[in-house]
Amino acid sequence: MKTLRVKAPAKINLHLEVLGLREDGFHELAMVMQAISLFDELNMKLRNDGKISLHSSNKSLSCMDDNLIVKAAKLLKDKAKNNDLGVDIYLDKKIPIGAGLAGGSSDAAATLLGLNSLWELGFSKLELEKFASLIGSDVPFCISGGTQLCFGRGEKLEPLKEPINIFSLLLVKDPLISVSTPWAYSKCKEIKGSEYLKTEEDFEKKRQNLRDASWLNFSITSSPPPLINDLQNVVIPYYPQVDKALSLLSSFNGSLSVSMSGSGASCFALFKDLDELSKICTKYDSRIESEGFQSWCCSFINHGPEIFYD
Ligand code: C5P
Repeated sequence: MKTLRVKAPAKINLHLEVLGLREDGFHELAMVMQAISLFDELNMKLRNDGKISLHSSNKSLSCMDDNLIVKAAKLLKDKAKNNDLGVDIYLDKKIPIGAGLAGGSSDAAATLLGLNSLWELGFSKLELEKFASLIGSDVPFCISGGTQLCFGRGEKLEPLKEPINIFSLLLVKDPLISVSTPWAYSKCKEIKGSEYLKTEEDFEKKRQNLRDASWLNFSITSSPPPLINDLQNVVIPYYPQVDKALSLLSSFNGSLSVSMSGSGASCFALFKDLDELSKICTKYDSRIESEGFQSWCCSFINHGPEIFYD
């Protein structure tokens, strides 16, 4: 029976600015998302009886209709208009859950790409990005990954004109906490809602500021991103571990800048290169663990999910 394997990368936010509220109740955002070398793996086996089944290495994860992988598979089957299409999917979960790393969104994007191939549907990446926006705000970015400007609720993608500087990162997360994205945005509205921008003209000015940011233009500068995340100060009072993670990361030699990713609770520090970071990881491994954090050493990557036919 036909099988394939898809590696689905996590993402971090190099920039997350909450601009205002949209008519659909979502927030208008200006973001730079960056794919990183931390991967979930999905193994897919074709079925011809129309059934879609999901099993996972992480037993705390629902494998029912609320899982974004199942949502993505059912959506693609609807778009293909063929009731016989089915699949057995096994998810090897490595990206931490509730971390702001788009693990679920990347799994959904990997499902769309993997099944497009397994079911021989021939949808273009642009069509898959449109389907992706029906699943979640971060899913369209995850179709092509790499580094992208993301506007709207996250689904309006603008590829960069130039590749940006490649950094390595140390990612940490307290395994005992996870932050709900809807909660973080509703708290943001409560705390900062009165300062939200109101007009499309104001939104566009902010988008243009980001497009023009010098750190995004590799040919002008090799300085690290300033790392702005408007949700960070919203989350910290309720999750002091985030503040503790940021202080810990800032204390390491060679740490260039630190931030929370997405709506948390993972945090990261950027480093110039992987060699420098490897030394830090070896030196501080037990300290990071004794402070209650899991950690990962990774790098920026310039792609999205990868399909293997082995
Ligand atoms: O689109 P997604 O399902 O990932 O969004 C989860 C929740 O996060 C939304 O229901 C909404 O409450 C909040 N959200 C938002 N504005 C965005 C993205 C997400 O308010 N741009």
